[in-house]
Amino acid sequence: MTKPFTLLTEFESDDNEPSHLKKSKITSLLKKKFDFESSHLRPSNGKEKGILAKCFGYFAPEQAKELGIYPYFREIQEIDGCHVVIDGKQAVSVSTNNYLGLAQEPGVVSAAKEAVEKFGIGCTGSRFLNGTFNLHKTLEREISSFLHREDSIVMSTGFQANQGTIACILGRKDIAFSDRENHASIYEGCSVSPGKTVRYQHNDMDHLEYYLKKYSDVEGKIIITDSVFSMSGDIANLPAIVKLAKDYGASVMVDEAHGLGVMGESGRGVANYYNLEDEIDIYMGTFSKSLGSIGGFISAKSKITEFIRHKASAFIFTAALPPASVAGVIAGLDIMINEPERIEKLRDNTAYIKRGFFDMGFQVNNNSIPIVPIKIGEEALTLYLNRLLFDDGVFAGVAVSPVVPPLNAMIRTSYTSSHDQKDLDKVLGSFRKLGTQLGVIPK
Ligand SMILES: Cc1ncc(COP(=O)(O)O)c(C=O)c1O
Repeated sequence: MTKPFTLLTEFESDDNEPSHLKKSKITSLLKKKFDFESSHLRPSNGKEKGILAKCFGYFAPEQAKELGIYPYFREIQEIDGCHVVIDGKQAVSVSTNNYLGLAQEPGVVSAAKEAVEKFGIGCTGSRFLNGTFNLHKTLEREISSFLHREDSIVMSTGFQANQGTIACILGRKDIAFSDRENHASIYEGCSVSPGKTVRYQHNDMDHLEYYLKKYSDVEGKIIITDSVFSMSGDIANLPAIVKLAKDYGASVMVDEAHGLGVMGESGRGVANYYNLEDEIDIYMGTFSKSLGSIGGFISAKSKITEFIRHKASAFIFTAALPPASVAGVIAGLDIMINEPERIEKLRDNTAYIKRGFFDMGFQVNNNSIPIVPIKIGEEALTLYLNRLLFDDGVFAGVAVSPVVPPLNAMIRTSYTSSHDQKDLDKVLGSFRKLGTQLGVIPK
């Protein structure tokens, strides 16, 4: 159950107060009750010793729950496209990566049901030994043909696709050049590999070139980037990355988790959008966003996939993606290709919502990525606004430190082809009303 609010009962809003004063008054009241940074760091009571002492000294979630502003692990009781029921309350969800509305699409669901009937609920083994079903091979062929690649490997999650691939490609003498905003699975892959990684400033091509120059004598080099960054919704500068890779003899790996189904012809991704498909050595994607399911994949030349297939621990030592998920993705891919109106609707919705937020005074990215972060700054204020939004019927996600730098907290909103104009207007209306109340939006 959502805890009732205990956070700011004493705050009396004065409508005539300038917004910046209102905001700082609310922020300091909130901080008195919930200091995000130090509640994380509070030392343990001294009774607990040893490796687990840190667990007993970790209070931030508890404190946030007590105050009613804890935003994580919300239990969704019902879901219908972009509408959810949480704690018995209906809300429009802007906390979803179901960009093309395929997660509950009847054709996808019936394909999944058929696979369950035929094969059961799981593969009970690794793809490597006994968990490869003909469905996995069919999906691999379909992805390769869709992306014009020699071969693909279907893995159990996108996280594992990144982690497993990078960990086995990046050898002891090699170096990875990784954008600082890359997804955590790329970080993990780099850190478990025996190779070296340098992190260039987000989308900063001069910084990338600085490192490429610095390590130009290293033979094995790979630039790794998200095509669309999952928090900011920024698009990677792939033309510049490809050029630098050529100039300095590096390979390129692109994570198209949020590009697939969103950008490029029929949703082939950002590399396709820039007409650079042939220049990307390793294409990584997920089924957990536009394709509405779970799983990840790698597409590349056969010699590369064959190596990964036999070397990636995160692929070999884990159970295969269940039949229902694979069958659902096969059906979803077909819909994605044959119903281009979904991608068009997604782009229209994205343009509409961005215009709405821009008119309210929020900074938005001028691109067609349906991830629209609303930057608030102060952690406690962000969590508070997020709770008010939920009470008003809008379910959004928050990103606070360490996912984003301290004091750069944001409400991460994202959109789908299933939202209609009423949903979008509801979201804009709630942000306008509550943002004005809290002084987040200038009057
Ligand atoms: C950019 C990016 N890469 C990889 C992943 C991991 O994918 P999955 O959730 O399918 O494991 C995500 C998911 O959050 C992502 O946003």
